[in-house]
Amino acid sequence: MKIVVKVSGKLLSPEEQTLPQAIKELRDGGARVVVVHGGGPQLTEIMEQMGKKPQFVEGLRITPPEEMDIIEMVLSGLLNKMLVGAFLRSGVPACGISGRDAFFLEGERHVLKKGAEEIELGRVGNVQRVNPKILWTLWESGFVPVVSPVCGDSNWHALNVNADWVAAHVACALQADFLVLFSDVPGVLKDPKDPQSLLEVLRVQEVENLIAEGRISGGMIPKLRFMAEVIESGVGEVLIGEGSEVVHLPRLLRKEGFRGTRILP
Ligand SMILES: Nc1ncnc2c1ncn2[C@@H]1O[C@H](COP(=O)(O)OP(=O)(O)O)[C@@H](O)[C@H]1O
Ligand SMILES: [Mg+2]
Repeated sequence: MKIVVKVSGKLLSPEEQTLPQAIKELRDGGARVVVVHGGGPQLTEIMEQMGKKPQFVEGLRITPPEEMDIIEMVLSGLLNKMLVGAFLRSGVPACGISGRDAFFLEGERHVLKKGAEEIELGRVGNVQRVNPKILWTLWESGFVPVVSPVCGDSNWHALNVNADWVAAHVACALQADFLVLFSDVPGVLKDPKDPQSLLEVLRVQEVENLIAEGRISGGMIPKLRFMAEVIESGVGEVLIGEGSEVVHLPRLLRKEGFRGTRILP
């Protein structure tokens, strides 16, 4: 069983124990797990400390080329090593990599189109090719890959990729049994202001309508945008849940889910 777990930057903490414990149980149950992390709030905080004002278009962080170095330092340095450290302290042999290591994730700049207009996002990218060899190499030696959301362009220079996209592309390439996205909301909500309005099932063909109606906005847009492709590519199941559900990850070994939204064809 192959499982791709994405954890929101909002959930990352140096004292984290629940996630390492859950991953340990999955490994002990025979699953091959890869963890992808985000870093939104930390990037915003550091950019603001530097006097810069973060800007987003449809949930994507505009990345001026001169800010890419700092973004990469935070994602692949600070946060990746913080999460790896938390795993190691819990006895889980994690190994941190970014998409720029070992030819892992090759992408290109992402162009956002609004009608005829093309919106300039700078060093924002999307993954075009996944070379999963590094994952298999790490798994075969017993390590758990922990991936920061930075990929290489055709010359292996850094691009900032939405972490949900990284997780989705990795899941597709692996034909993963599960792609699980943990965020700060119980799942996809029918009314984003009402946490009780959880959609337990969301059909991929409903997504664009919900975006058009304004029910899905901000970071939920990129999270859901390519789900049709993900499901078509043969990923077994896609789940979105709240961080508090991480403790229930081992249920996947028994093909059981947890509270959240299941994305279906
Ligand atoms: N319909 C919706 N249901 C749930 N969350 C939504 C919805 N529409 C917008 N959102 C927003 O999307 C956010 C999740 O995306 P994002 O901020 O990028 O977090 P993550 O770090 O998990 O990627 C939620 O915190 C919420 O504010
Ligand atoms: Mg996000």
